[in-house]
Amino acid sequence: MATFTEQLNEQIAYEFAASQQYIAIAVHYDAETLPQLAAHFYQQAIEERNHAMMMVQYLLDSDDEVIIPAVAAPQISFADDVAPVTLALDQERRVTAQISALAVTAREAGDLVAEQFMHWFLQEQREEISSMSALLQVMERLRDNIMLVEDYLARESGGENPLEVGAPPAAGGAL
Ligand SMILES: [Fe+2]
Ligand SMILES: [Fe+2]
Repeated sequence: MATFTEQLNEQIAYEFAASQQYIAIAVHYDAETLPQLAAHFYQQAIEERNHAMMMVQYLLDSDDEVIIPAVAAPQISFADDVAPVTLALDQERRVTAQISALAVTAREAGDLVAEQFMHWFLQEQREEISSMSALLQVMERLRDNIMLVEDYLARESGGENPLEVGAPPAAGGAL
């Protein structure tokens, strides 16, 4: 069985892959002149990059080996404008399972410092699944008039994420 350190190094690759996937989604929307959707996913990409760098900082702090990984190629073409958000929600669900598995590994190893580190990511996943589900619901409702999704995002986005305050430090500083 993988140790917590091995598993966390794998997770760094998943977080960077999630970041690349969100850039690919942002570029898809940018190319279609859907600037609010593009901005939303460019921002998500930065957040995923920050998640990876928080994990890098944790490994640096605990004097464990850090492996900066190659990442899986993102999906770059989509059947329609709703498909990227469906993909994003699937990705967030998969990451939630990975983060939960990391918390379980830490707990089973009796490593409470590592377990506590994972708690912030569990909260973050709850928030991300909730907001991505909401966006998917809006996209499905407005799939014949995506410009109304742009209006929705212009109106609803930009609120502060209260989780930012308690976020773990990121190597080199969070972007
Ligand atoms: Fe993440
Ligand atoms: Fe995420």
